Amino acid sequence: MVQDGIDLASLDKFIDDVKQELIDARHHSAVDRLRTKVFGNQGVIRLAMKGLASLPLDERPSVGRVINDIKNELERLIADRSEEIDSLEFTKKLGPEPIEFSIGGYDSPGTLHPITQIQRKIEEAFGRIGFTEARGTEIETEWFCFDALNTPKNHPARDEMDTFFLPEDTVVSSASKYLTERYLLRSHTSTVQIRTMLKEKPPLKIIAPGRTFRRDTVDATHSANFHQCEGLYVAEGVTVCDLKAVLNFLLHTLFGDDIKFRLRPSFFPFTEPSFEVDMMSKNLGTLSNQWIEILGCGMVDPEVFNAVGYDSTKFSGFAFGVGLERVAMLLQGIDDVRMFYQNDLRFLNQFS
Ligand code: DAH
Repeated sequence: MVQDGIDLASLDKFIDDVKQELIDARHHSAVDRLRTKVFGNQGVIRLAMKGLASLPLDERPSVGRVINDIKNELERLIADRSEEIDSLEFTKKLGPEPIEFSIGGYDSPGTLHPITQIQRKIEEAFGRIGFTEARGTEIETEWFCFDALNTPKNHPARDEMDTFFLPEDTVVSSASKYLTERYLLRSHTSTVQIRTMLKEKPPLKIIAPGRTFRRDTVDATHSANFHQCEGLYVAEGVTVCDLKAVLNFLLHTLFGDDIKFRLRPSFFPFTEPSFEVDMMSKNLGTLSNQWIEILGCGMVDPEVFNAVGYDSTKFSGFAFGVGLERVAMLLQGIDDVRMFYQNDLRFLNQFS
């Protein structure tokens, strides 16, 4: 149908062409060109609107509505294409493989690593009896790892802990006596006792879980990288009775009610007296009903208090250190420590 000044048939054709060009448009510049062609000063919509004036009065409203509908539709199509191009460009930026965000994950939602599970259990339980969590650093100086823990140079106890020293050129010389020594990967979490006591005044009750390192040859029961949790309680009048009560709490938390434990005299440079704790349980598979060494502990040696400036005549305290791999192995009947570090889902899924 040809109207005076407006040819609706060619307008239809024009619109079909614009739709096709929009589909072909790959860049915003192409969409912009079309936008001008449709809505610009010389654009088809404006010309059609102008053409309305030359129509008989009674036809103007209906033709006007048609033009208006076309205008709205084209506006929407142009905006949609513009958005599509935005997302195409974003996908291009992400790289050659478009990411499918809606794709499902693995069947299993994932679980905490068995070592993390033990650590969380200890943290949660000790939180309930007023212990806070302290953290140290995995790279330490000899002073924190040994000297301050009453293990001076050439002390035979250092041999057992022979560990990973960093190259000599990492030694930082500074005014602080703590920083002029060699750096090493900490061989135990007992370093955190020192770090915490230097920062805080007694009374204090902390646990310090974390990663530790020793130059052990890796086999089924040794790993050069393992985890410990340290405990430290310092106040006035702390005794071995308090130590026993807290060990009782720890072991029941980890192994359930059906256990016995005993303190066996031992030696650690930083505790006096020192003990190994043995425990026995009916529920430990092949290790049931026999004494199993589970952790080390003792009363903080006055020399340690002297190193951190605590008054050893006023305060006393206990400390303990437990190996988390050891606990997990006993609890779950795992006979090879290497399983913890291999990321084998067949192993890890058993702890979900
Ligand atoms: N640091 C010791 C080790 O790695 C374990 C230990 C023993 C920690 C006695 C303590 C303690 O706090 O009192 O072998």
